[in-house]
Amino acid sequence: MKIAFISSEIFPYAKTGGLADVAGSLPKEIAALGHEVKVFMPKYNTFGEAEHGLHYQWDIGEIPIRVDGRVHSVYVHKANLPGSNVEAYFIDCPHYFHRFRIYTNDIDEDERFIVFQKGVIEVLQRLQWVPDIIHCNDWQTALIPLLVRENYSWDRMFDSTATVLTIHNVAYQGRFTKSAFEKAEIKDKYYLHGGIGEYEGGVNFLKAGIYSANVINTVSETYARELLTPAYGYGMQTPLSFRIRDFFGILNGVDYNIWNPETDQFIPHKYSIDDFSGKLKNKKFLLDHLHLPFDESVPLIGIVSRLVTQKGFDIIAYALNGLMELNAQWVILGSGEYKYEEMFQHIKNHYPDKVSVYLGFNNELSHLIEAGADIFLMPSYYEPCGLNQIYSLKYGTVPVVRKTGGLADTVQDWNEFLAQGKEIGTGYSFHDYTANALIHSVQRAVNDFGLKDVWTKIQLNGMRMDYSWKRSAEKYVELYGKSLKNNGKKL
Ligand code: ADP
Ligand code: GLC
Repeated sequence: MKIAFISSEIFPYAKTGGLADVAGSLPKEIAALGHEVKVFMPKYNTFGEAEHGLHYQWDIGEIPIRVDGRVHSVYVHKANLPGSNVEAYFIDCPHYFHRFRIYTNDIDEDERFIVFQKGVIEVLQRLQWVPDIIHCNDWQTALIPLLVRENYSWDRMFDSTATVLTIHNVAYQGRFTKSAFEKAEIKDKYYLHGGIGEYEGGVNFLKAGIYSANVINTVSETYARELLTPAYGYGMQTPLSFRIRDFFGILNGVDYNIWNPETDQFIPHKYSIDDFSGKLKNKKFLLDHLHLPFDESVPLIGIVSRLVTQKGFDIIAYALNGLMELNAQWVILGSGEYKYEEMFQHIKNHYPDKVSVYLGFNNELSHLIEAGADIFLMPSYYEPCGLNQIYSLKYGTVPVVRKTGGLADTVQDWNEFLAQGKEIGTGYSFHDYTANALIHSVQRAVNDFGLKDVWTKIQLNGMRMDYSWKRSAEKYVELYGKSLKNNGKKL
């Protein structure tokens, strides 16, 4: 099969979260199964062309794209996804993408991703490369199924192309006023009352994608079930219920070439399941680096996250006093909402020997924390999949998570299984979204940390888990098959 994989962020070029990790690794795994994959993303000015081996595509040249009645020139650059034969195409439109940030709150955010999506379609036309599948990810790409079928239906090259939409986070939907669809020259029946793109009087890119893609999936089975409920669906439970026969959950995999303590280029002391003496050395290194005192008997709890409410920071705020009473040290790496940045700064000032906070994005530090921390905390309100808890398992860093979405699908609670006589738990999890439940779980982890035999068992259980991409990539190929079957159905 030929697959065009479209994403607004792809590691190593641009990353704000897990979508970039997925978009940087899944296409390679699908290619490894024998398919031809090309990936597409905007060419932001946040990464260096030379550093990543981008080449301007002279043969494609300048592509005029009209948005809101104005014509913009779009150019194309190409590189290879590192370590693979997957071609990466970069849609270059300086007016929209040279903003020093991947996502903005600028008033033309809709236009930025309209240009991108039309740009992708026009590049496919100019390459005369006919994909069997266009695989879209999140709202920034969710109009492509509709655009291909409507605005570009005159081009018969897409007649047999099927579309897939993967939802990585339903709370981000691309909601704008109706003018966004006018700017994209999408027919008014799609945004007038009752139209597939209409939502609460405006337009919603994700909703249009849910109704127009041949199949839809999200990134874990539990989140797929949760998305059908009002508490987690953020308004999309209705369209998703409508499409229920074509809606699936496929758990993300992780790239163990990048996230593996045996080979991790960012950690000073490599270690493995057979000899993880290096882990303690990494902890010492990390604590020195953070100017925190080292005490082998005190667990170090790590957080690496976007600082947004989704990730559980509101219950962390309520739990802070209780958490600080525990005999543990903390390292927090994140950036996001000001109130949470301020909260952690405040805690750091209050407990300088106990807490270290790095506000910002730091890839190297995220690896050091995975390797050096003893416990990893991820108490998300909702979590479509979550990658950090999966990385943590491989690094013998025991995750404490809320039982939701992908966290529920990847972390087995030690005590829950112990009660059934099974020593197979890989971490700690709690159900109720409350400060008390959170403190109680962290407390359990801190207590067990003191029981060396128990702790080692939990670490080893986690390190043995295999969440590599192969199985998930095979499921995506199956999904592509379903999508092709569905193609031909009319809207
Ligand atoms: P989400 O995509 O919702 O943010 P995931 O767990 O799927 O959550 O993925 C987050 C990814 O982003 C991980 O690779 C994590 O290491 C990384 N990450 C998040 N915040 C930071 C940060 N401040 N610095 C470096 N990496 C970060
Ligand atoms: C989103 C989700 C996260 C998921 C990632 C990759 O950002 O919040 O849970 O792991 O996408 O699919």
